[in-house]
Amino acid sequence: MKILFRIKRFNPETDERPRFQTYELDAAPEQPVLDCLHEIKWKQDGTLSFRRSCGHAICGSCAMTINRENKLACRTLVKDVGRRVTIEPLRSFPVIRDLVVDMDRFYEKFYAVMSWFVNNSAPPDRERLQSVEDHALIDEAASCILCACCTSACPSFWSDDDYLGPAALLKAYRSIFDTRDQAQLARLTLLDTAKGPWKCRTIFNCNEACPKEIDITNAIGRLKLRLSSL
Ligand code: SF4
Ligand code: SF4
Ligand code: FES
Repeated sequence: MKILFRIKRFNPETDERPRFQTYELDAAPEQPVLDCLHEIKWKQDGTLSFRRSCGHAICGSCAMTINRENKLACRTLVKDVGRRVTIEPLRSFPVIRDLVVDMDRFYEKFYAVMSWFVNNSAPPDRERLQSVEDHALIDEAASCILCACCTSACPSFWSDDDYLGPAALLKAYRSIFDTRDQAQLARLTLLDTAKGPWKCRTIFNCNEACPKEIDITNAIGRLKLRLSSL
C-alpha cells in the first residue's frame, strides 16, 4: 500500500526553523514504521536522521511521536497508522537534528535519584537472592527500557523540565522497593522536594505512552505514600 510520510525536519546548521517534508513509500501492512524510515533514508534521502538500534523494542532508542502519540517506531506497524503518517521528534526535548533529541537532561535525572544498587554488606558466594513476592514488587518497573515516551508525554514535565518526571521516578521506585537495597532512606530524602513525586498530578499520560505497559502512575503513588509515612 502507498503511504505518505510527513516527517518533521530540522538541521540547526542550515534551517531557521523546523519544517515538514513528505515522502511516499510502498509499504506492507505488517511492516514496522522503523523499516519505512530506513527505506526512506537508504533509498530517498540519506540526510534524514533518527535513532535506532535493536529493532525489537528492547533498547528504547527509536521513540518518536507518530500521529501525535509517543511510540517506538520499531513496534508500530504500518497497518495501525493509516495512509498519511505524521512523524515528529519526542516533544519537550531539545532537537539535535530531525527526529534525534537531546537526552542529556533525561539521563541526568537518573543520577539525581541514585539509580544504582546500594548494598554494603559482604556479597554472598552467588547472587543476592530475593523471594518471588519481593521481586514481584519491582518486576514491572525493572522492564523499563528508558525510551522517554512517558516523560515526554507528561504535562507536569512540559511545564517544568526540572521535574524528575515519570521515568526517573519509576527508577527510584525500582530501587526503593528492592528489598536487597540499603539506600531507601537516602533516595526518599532526595525525592521529597517540589521536583519529586509531589509534582505528579496523576493524569496517567505516562501510562498511556509507555510501550511496556508499565503502571508508572501507580508506582509514583506508592512513592508518595512512602514519603508521607516518613
Ligand atoms: S501521572 Fe504524573 S508522571 Fe504520569 S504523566 Fe501524569 S503528571 Fe506526569
Ligand atoms: S517507563 Fe515506559 S515509557 Fe517510561 S522510559 Fe520506561 S519503558 Fe519508556
Ligand atoms: S530500535 Fe530499539 S526499541 Fe526500537
